[in-house]
Amino acid sequence: MSFIQVLDESTINKIAAGEVVERPRAVVKELVENAMDAGATAITVEIKEGGLSLIRVTDNGKGIEKEDIPNAFLRHATSKIRRAEDLIEVRSLGFRGEALSSIVAVAQVELITKTGTSLNGYRYIIEGGAQKSLEEIGCPDGTTFVVRNLFYNTPARRKFLKTPVTEAGYISDLMERLMVSHPDISFKYIVNNQVKLQSSGNNNTKDILYNLYGRDLVKDLLVVDSESEDVKIKGFIGKPIINRGNRNFENYFINGRYIKSPILIRAIEDAYKPYMMQHKYPFTSLYFEIEPS
Ligand SMILES: Nc1ncnc2c1ncn2[C@@H]1O[C@H](COP(=O)(O)OP(=O)(O)OP(=O)(O)O)[C@@H](O)[C@H]1O
Ligand SMILES: [Mg+2]
Repeated sequence: MSFIQVLDESTINKIAAGEVVERPRAVVKELVENAMDAGATAITVEIKEGGLSLIRVTDNGKGIEKEDIPNAFLRHATSKIRRAEDLIEVRSLGFRGEALSSIVAVAQVELITKTGTSLNGYRYIIEGGAQKSLEEIGCPDGTTFVVRNLFYNTPARRKFLKTPVTEAGYISDLMERLMVSHPDISFKYIVNNQVKLQSSGNNNTKDILYNLYGRDLVKDLLVVDSESEDVKIKGFIGKPIINRGNRNFENYFINGRYIKSPILIRAIEDAYKPYMMQHKYPFTSLYFEIEPS
């Protein structure tokens, strides 16, 4: 008698979804990263009820070919790498081919997409991993994902979430970071039908910091612009007078990706130490560019 069985695809996807999309913020992050990987220069994110009832991400990127639409939602399906060796110099934000399959396992998803070379676009509906429909429609170039009723089929996970206001707050923090990390992309962020944040995409980080944090903060920023053989560092650091009781103001990005690095944090905070009170943390918005290979 055998007790061990391989799980079915839908169960596997639901379990994986728990890791990739632990809360609405993760859905927004994955969809926006996909939009960036698709070369979008304008991205709109709209949420309702903290992302629980609705998350809509619209981009003007390259779109998805009709033949690729169902495949995009399969587990381990990606256009970004072909083999393990590609990982060494991967330039895209995604590469696992896991995000969309995880999201559709635990939500009702609508995709509207059109490539530049196709005459018309397509609308695809998939719920809990099950395809519902694929039809031709007229739409602009680019891609829209609408994610409704997140965790509708995993009530235990839904119970685990905080209030919609708190979940929306997590998404707002993420949106701020995304705007700061990609000043070349025009973002619009809409919460419960109201535009909450917007950036122009004019590549001026200072404008974005001004919009997010106000004039008082921006006047006390110092420009960082330095280059060595292996790494370019650009961005801003704050004078010690701008400080916070937590590390929310300390942001680091490598090749456009927001990162947390204990080594970097340590180095920067050590440098600030003589100028800063104990348990206060500096403002940094630093962009590192390193050749992936
Ligand atoms: N907004 C988009 N525009 C164009 N293509 C997209 C978009 N979103 C997803 N895709 C396509 O769907 C595929 C699957 O997306 P998914 O996010 O699941 O995987 P990935 O981005 O390749 O890897 P990861 O799981 O690390 O995010 C992508 O490889 C890409 O080809
Ligand atoms: Mg992805």
